[in-house]
Amino acid sequence: MNKSFDGVPVLNNINLTIEDGEFFTILGPSGCGKTTLLRMIAGFIAPDSGAIYLGSENILGLPPNKRNVNTIFQKYALFPHLTVYENIAFALRIKKLPEKEIRDEVKKYIELVGLSEHVHKKPNQLSGGQQQRVAIARALINKPGVLLLDEPLSALDAKLRQNLLIEIDNIHDEVGITFIFITHDQQEALSISDRIAVMNSGNILQVGTPAEVYEAPSDSFVADFLGENNFFDGVITSFVDERFARLQNPILGEVVIEMDKALSLGDHVRVSIRPEKLKLSKVQPPQTDKILNVVKAFVHEVIYSGFQSKYFVWMEGDKNMPFKIFKQHAIYFDEEDEDVVWWDEEAYVYWDADDGFLVEVNAGEAK
Ligand SMILES: Nc1ncnc2c1ncn2[C@@H]1O[C@H](COP(=O)(O)OP(=O)(O)OP(=O)(O)O)[C@@H](O)[C@H]1O
Ligand SMILES: [Mg+2]
Repeated sequence: MNKSFDGVPVLNNINLTIEDGEFFTILGPSGCGKTTLLRMIAGFIAPDSGAIYLGSENILGLPPNKRNVNTIFQKYALFPHLTVYENIAFALRIKKLPEKEIRDEVKKYIELVGLSEHVHKKPNQLSGGQQQRVAIARALINKPGVLLLDEPLSALDAKLRQNLLIEIDNIHDEVGITFIFITHDQQEALSISDRIAVMNSGNILQVGTPAEVYEAPSDSFVADFLGENNFFDGVITSFVDERFARLQNPILGEVVIEMDKALSLGDHVRVSIRPEKLKLSKVQPPQTDKILNVVKAFVHEVIYSGFQSKYFVWMEGDKNMPFKIFKQHAIYFDEEDEDVVWWDEEAYVYWDADDGFLVEVNAGEAK
């Protein structure tokens, strides 16, 4: 599927298959085309080329109200003059269902979203989170095959976002229909989705489970967007076996990496290692049956934040190779403890070779 606005491409060759009943998230930075994609699924705008299937039916020719999908927008589009009850009942009244049936249905969905105590309030008497729940109930009462949610939590504060996110997840489990959820918040995406499509500049870069996109991002944009990284570059100089290769980096020296992709001698590669995968110690790490990379580093900053500390180090003491290391405090943290690494100290940074991942490979000079 493709879409341009005034000759400017906004979506390029979008090709997605979303499974029935799936919680599918479209994740990407502001302006990458998420809402445009959702509006095309909903039928508010048409793609320049391509098709959209719901099951086996191409729904491209159908107007929004004939598509079996409902949308929840970023801003609550509730009727301000109607109560919670009447907002939710609205679609059923249009369908002219018998009063008893409407009452039973509305009651069911009000309970589903936890608003039983607020049925007679008007939208301006509700909190943002409660308004968004009305919007969810109002969309679900139409029994759509697909629910589209365009950043439904973005107007809420952090705590409330988290609570409502868990509730949306529970509602999804309860109703069992397909949810297509849009967000630019990677934490939200990772915590709620069955699968995530990561978008940038109108392109889908990777589709996978939360663990797949986090642990094995397809390129450095995805790696960066989904969390914190330490990147280093190098040239492949030799192979350990079929799984591991050695690279040379001017500051780090020789580092062993796992080959997630096929590599040749002389290839220039970029590797990422997440800060939580790095370990820091005053003493040389013990031998294990894993392949360890061990590099000396200088700690130039430590930020203690209760459950963890963030260490900012210079690898080999070189300011041109700053790394971040996140250390969880699973046991009581005592800054007097002699094992604790602190400012202006030298320490060993080490990591299992298979914990890094390749984010870029460029073929070397012809051999
Ligand atoms: N009707 C339109 N006419 C012209 N350009 C548009 C139109 N709608 C969207 N665009 C442009 O298309 C691009 C993608 O917009 P879109 O709203 O899909 O982004 P988004 O990923 O939803 O961003 P956000 O996270 O900020 O909501 C933007 O550059 C936007 O300016
Ligand atoms: Mg948007």
